[in-house]
Amino acid sequence: MDRLVSALLALVPLISCQAMHSQPQPTAFARDIHSHGEPEKVRVRHVALELELDFAAQLARGSARLDLERSDRDAPLVLDVESLEIRSVTSSVGGSREFSLGERDAALGQKLSIRLLPADTSVTVHYATTRGAQAMQWLQPEQTAGGRHPFLFTQGQSILTRSWIPLQDSPGVRVTYEAAIRAPEGLTVVMSAEQLGRGDDGRWRFRMQEPIPPYLIALACGALEFRAISQRAGVWAEPSIVAGARAELEDTERMVQQAESLFGPYRWGRYDLVILPPSFPFGGMENPRLTFATPTILAGDRSLVGLVAHELAHSWSGNLVTNATWRDFWLNEGFTVYFEQRIMERVFGPERSAMEKVLARRDLELEMAGLEPWQQVLHCDLAGHHPDDGFSSVPYEKGALLLRRIEELVGRAEFDRFLRGWFDGHAFESVTTQEFLVSLERELLSRHPDARAQLDLQAWLYAPGLPADAPRPESTLLAAVDREVERWTAGARAEELVTSGWVTQQWLRFLDALPDELRVTQLAELDRVFGFTRSGNSEILCAWLVICAHNRYSAADTAMADFLMRVGRRKFLKPIYVELAKTPEGLRRAREIYALARPRYHAVATRTLDELLLASNAK
Ligand code: BES
Ligand code: ZN
Repeated sequence: MDRLVSALLALVPLISCQAMHSQPQPTAFARDIHSHGEPEKVRVRHVALELELDFAAQLARGSARLDLERSDRDAPLVLDVESLEIRSVTSSVGGSREFSLGERDAALGQKLSIRLLPADTSVTVHYATTRGAQAMQWLQPEQTAGGRHPFLFTQGQSILTRSWIPLQDSPGVRVTYEAAIRAPEGLTVVMSAEQLGRGDDGRWRFRMQEPIPPYLIALACGALEFRAISQRAGVWAEPSIVAGARAELEDTERMVQQAESLFGPYRWGRYDLVILPPSFPFGGMENPRLTFATPTILAGDRSLVGLVAHELAHSWSGNLVTNATWRDFWLNEGFTVYFEQRIMERVFGPERSAMEKVLARRDLELEMAGLEPWQQVLHCDLAGHHPDDGFSSVPYEKGALLLRRIEELVGRAEFDRFLRGWFDGHAFESVTTQEFLVSLERELLSRHPDARAQLDLQAWLYAPGLPADAPRPESTLLAAVDREVERWTAGARAEELVTSGWVTQQWLRFLDALPDELRVTQLAELDRVFGFTRSGNSEILCAWLVICAHNRYSAADTAMADFLMRVGRRKFLKPIYVELAKTPEGLRRAREIYALARPRYHAVATRTLDELLLASNAK
């Protein structure tokens, strides 16, 4: 067995194996190429934020006190900052400290080095954010549901926290934090932390006592109201949507209970969600104790709450056990998709879960066909790349398929035992792919030599494409949809199709199974009978708009422009713009809309779309 462990370890050369720290640490110290920090010398352990939110100037100003652990007494404190205005650095033992800022790297920002004196255990950085702060999106009142108050939210993952807090912005450098935030009267502040209420000074106070990776420090501020779902779960949203949001998210408590019974106790106290305005660039973000979510999941029929299962699952995979570097991102997302599907199976039954699995595998295959080989690798090499360049359904779906394959080989009970041990054994740690491989061998495969013999981990983790043994989920409910599509393409009228009782996942399959090339009259028929252009379901509408863009169905033009103006979720924007950009006329239209919509999008979305649409990037 030991030979196998060392063979597995040799699969990926350890980039650097530093001396162990005195406190319990991940077994191997993995260098993070996306951070300037040198935590092996001086490590930030705790962050105390004091910020004032200035909506008029669209910036935050104040300070961050950083409590330090110093392993190398001669070394400076090295931090990551991006577009921050650093005013001064002081020490808790008195006096100011010298600091210097390095050159700005477009992806990584700047290095901030602070000279420490022997007695320093904690320093305070006095600073302000700037308009360039990519983590922060400041919204005008008209971008909110209520239309009367401005809104602010932050998005830290993957390397954006450094644009609003100076710290060692690496998922391997976990910190506890506290915060005191001053905001305009009438607005509520929420954070990914325990809420301590408003002090006499009017500041909103928070504290996170579990060590978390910096990308999970998050804040939202706006006209927010709270509705409880259960004792420990609830939702924050703007007053006009909070009742609907609460109804849509009714199943949240059941999800938490099912998740706990699968993989161990929920260790974060409360599980709340905040529904952000539609410009939020993601579907959801697993900020601890407080998932951030897009309003586009509020379909009215709970059909899109798989996203809640996903973000909740991150409370184990990602937040409790965290990828140590961004090349280990599949450990966060692959585990989470697998776990999400297990929760969905428990709460909504195997049929719905099967449909979601089939759709997900199909999306993976479609997307993978257009990716470069390195992007198709689970443990991908991000050297020279922004972490976002490795973002695709590969870490998500290929990662989940690997876990499902292992489950198939060893049996569900055995795999569950392993996963539970993995979460318990690495709770509040950041882990690498090698550590996963070592655990997998020690705790599971060594007891199942047959499974080990059939599992080509080398191919799964380091080769592009999908191994031949990747599980192929099946769904009879989706097979029924395929038959109706065949009838329609063979000449049946849309009215004659048997679609009653279809759920969202079936409609998504319907749209996916349609022939690529359709005549405008055919699209008009489908639209007349099924009302796709008017759909209130964002997933269905997005899939339909892609088809409309491809086949130049101009009756959907207004709906498309409205959608692109209103919604900032990158997953929706990208496929529609990509499709438009395929013809000169479509590209012209895409650019017209983008020129108007761009100021409403978050930096995460414009980073992706600028490349596609800005005139200077025209091919
Ligand atoms: N953690 C991710 C979002 C993310 C990933 C932000 C990488 C920044 C960098 C989140 O958990 C996620 O995966 N969201 C998905 C939801 C889904 C797969 C159900 C999304 O936003 O679409
Ligand atoms: Zn996720």
